[in-house]
Amino acid sequence: MMARNRTSIIFRQGTHAAVNIDKNVWTTRRKTELFDLESFTYTYLLGCPKTRVAVLIDPVDTQAERDIRITKEMDLKLIYASCVTYVDHAGRMAFTGDALLIRACGRTDFQEGNPETLYESVRNQILSLPEDYMLYPAHDYHGVTTTTVGEELKYNPRLTKSKKEFVEIMEQLGLTRPAKMDEAVPINVMCGPSQLGESHQRMDK
Ligand SMILES: [Fe+2]
Repeated sequence: MMARNRTSIIFRQGTHAAVNIDKNVWTTRRKTELFDLESFTYTYLLGCPKTRVAVLIDPVDTQAERDIRITKEMDLKLIYASCVTYVDHAGRMAFTGDALLIRACGRTDFQEGNPETLYESVRNQILSLPEDYMLYPAHDYHGVTTTTVGEELKYNPRLTKSKKEFVEIMEQLGLTRPAKMDEAVPINVMCGPSQLGESHQRMDK
């Protein structure tokens, strides 16, 4: 359950864990958006200009050099890097990882995915936020970079359905198993900084 006075919460397909970032070290934030052309992944570097602490959200392993270089150039100290869903109430924004994509959602047929858990997580943890909150997904395949809670409540073709309908949709997608899945699953389950299995693999279908 999300506590509104906390600065953040992370979860991945039903695995919930909170990350506390002390308000004293996280006073203001600056967001840098990075993109991986191969896996259509957005990576976000959130840094505090005052205390220099930073978190890296949804990193791609093949872009590690780029991310380290930019972090160093900005004189930031990375305290956390992972694929997460992260809610920043002070900035009225949330980073939705693979859970909620723009007008779509992540697939649930691997990485210990479960459509019921995904539905409950997204409806209860993301789409229950105020409608003006900006949402930043880990992927987009149509050139769109952001959305809002209000937009997704109105236009998301899957998450506007009932839980029963959502589960039926997800179970009937008939998706092919991604290449590199056997390597990627153990890494991703550990929530490691890797998107190995997602190369050339769309997460919204
Ligand atoms: Fe992803």
